[in-house]
Amino acid sequence: MIPKESKDFIKNNFKKESVVCLTGAGISAESGIPVFRGKGGLWEKYDPQIYAYPEGLISLLRTQPQGLANFIVDFYTLLIKARPNPGHLALAVLEKEGIVRSVITQNVDNLHQASGLRSVIELHGNAFRIKCMECSHTIVLERDRIKEMTELVKINKDSRIKLLKVLSRYFPRCSCGARHRIDIVLFGEMLPEEALTSAYKQLDNCSILLLIGTSLVVYPAASLPLYAKERGAKLIEINNEPSMLSEICDYKITGKASEILPEALTLLGYA
Ligand code: OAD
Repeated sequence: MIPKESKDFIKNNFKKESVVCLTGAGISAESGIPVFRGKGGLWEKYDPQIYAYPEGLISLLRTQPQGLANFIVDFYTLLIKARPNPGHLALAVLEKEGIVRSVITQNVDNLHQASGLRSVIELHGNAFRIKCMECSHTIVLERDRIKEMTELVKINKDSRIKLLKVLSRYFPRCSCGARHRIDIVLFGEMLPEEALTSAYKQLDNCSILLLIGTSLVVYPAASLPLYAKERGAKLIEINNEPSMLSEICDYKITGKASEILPEALTLLGYA
């Protein structure tokens, strides 16, 4: 539930074009996608030192194809099942009403886009897209195609050669000759420059930055709230636990994003 002082702040300050959001895995928790860190998180089951690095994934293909196959199947099975929850939908309404100007997201699950939200800045890419490693040409990976791929990965997971054959089919060569790969940012990789520039531009003149469902431990995303605060924005956190930057937030609303955001919508008279 939104505390009284935050309610007053929301009612008095959520004006047209005033709000920018920075979202993380927590906003998608009620869509059935587990967060990365903490109990039950993806990184509890899969060691990020291996599964979050490009070198780790390549070495798995060579030495432990079943490990890579299980990861691909687990990851995509959750993503293709997930649908936007009331938190995603509330942000889309707030954008439509002109309150939310933009959502900067670390999520690769495409749920903001699926909710109808238009101004999404993808800091870590999108798992429903593949990208040429040389010329950056992109192709959308449709849900049915991913489903087909996961089925084939499951059947062929015990053979490195067969698995490689399946992956080559779904991550084809580009007309430039190089291969496509999943269009997400892995650890140690640079963020897409265009997305980062757009994020800074949004934060240059926003009056409120909503931090929704993110632990704020991964940089450079975690530096964005500081950047906004230095430029005068108020920081409001919506999280069911404290984040790394809770201390510097002006308002903290403890709870699930899928419940707090619809409540804010009602408060503003848009529900
Ligand atoms: P984390 O898993 O680090 O943090 C999730 C945050 O969501 C935590 O602060 C939780 O307390 C909070 N949370 C959980 N359920 C919630 C709910 N229902 N409502 C509101 N908050 C909730 O995920 P991120 O901060 O998104 O990067 O992680 C950042 C990056 O680290 C990810 O983009 C990914 C990961 O490794 C890459 O893969 C490059």
